Amino acid sequence: MARAYHDPVMVREVVAYLGAESGGLYFDGTLGGGGHTEAILEASDDTRVIGVDQDPDALATAGARLERFGGRVRLVESNFADAAERLEESLAGALLDLGISSHQIDEETRGFSFRPGTPLDMRMAAGSAAVPTAADLLNELEERELADVFYRFGEERRSRRLAGEVVKRRRTQPFRTSDDLLGAIDTALGPRTTNQDRARIFQALRIAVNDEMGVLARALPALRDRLEPNGVFVVLSYHSLEDRQVKDAFREWSRDCVCPPELPVCRCRGRALGGLVTRKPVTAGASEVEANPRARSAKLRAWRKAA
Ligand SMILES: C[S@@+](CC[C@H](N)C(=O)[O-])C[C@H]1O[C@@H](n2cnc3c(N)ncnc32)[C@H](O)[C@@H]1O
Repeated sequence: MARAYHDPVMVREVVAYLGAESGGLYFDGTLGGGGHTEAILEASDDTRVIGVDQDPDALATAGARLERFGGRVRLVESNFADAAERLEESLAGALLDLGISSHQIDEETRGFSFRPGTPLDMRMAAGSAAVPTAADLLNELEERELADVFYRFGEERRSRRLAGEVVKRRRTQPFRTSDDLLGAIDTALGPRTTNQDRARIFQALRIAVNDEMGVLARALPALRDRLEPNGVFVVLSYHSLEDRQVKDAFREWSRDCVCPPELPVCRCRGRALGGLVTRKPVTAGASEVEANPRARSAKLRAWRKAA
């Protein structure tokens, strides 16, 4: 049987936190295969969705799946931060289901996996000439910048050794496929290197190629500002760096006073912009994790804008 394009995670929870049964306009910044958007649209006949993805392949798949909803769904090929900043309407809710889809991982030509012989591409905006590929970064970044990518985005403590190995190897042969990077990782990290280590390094490069942390930092306040009073923001994240960014933003927006402690009187807005809907991240239940291993690392956080 053909594998599904992508099995969406915690669909019931996402629809419930967004309150999609009450209708309104929702922003799905990570449309993927359209699973979450479909559930949001099914929750009420009065619901509409702006579905955004930077991958044209995802838009084509989701477009076919969502055709039956006609004008209730508007598809936009864009980075979600750019789309959020351009948005003129106010939103009943916003959803970001971060990272990449199962389909993107399965498509060998996209270069997201470390299966042998996979080209080092990793651009979510497939084929975009404006975005350097993973191979471009490995071949062109300075050694110090490469070490920074492995350290900051891969939390790799042997980052300098790995960057040195990459630079040494690229002098004789440029990096082209996963085999080239796997060779450098195994030499730099030694015989005890695990697949988890390899996956972390590949993920670090993916984060750098797509500027994932920078884009999220722009999208969070932009979407918050476009929420209606009582509008809800739901984010599903899959690794600690992005979860920390979401947690810190939601906490900060929920504080009444954000002045530095040394200020004797409050000089800030003095009023929380909204409140946490989830105090701790919500995780998938055992049966969902068993059916969909990708759900294991998912953390759902929700925040509600003040009335
Ligand atoms: C985890 S999948 C989303 C799956 C989707 N919720 C579903 O139900 O099928 C993430 C999707 O978001 C897209 N994506 C990730 N970051 C993006 C960004 N900054 N801007 C636009 N799309 C992005 C990816 O191309 C991918 O298709």
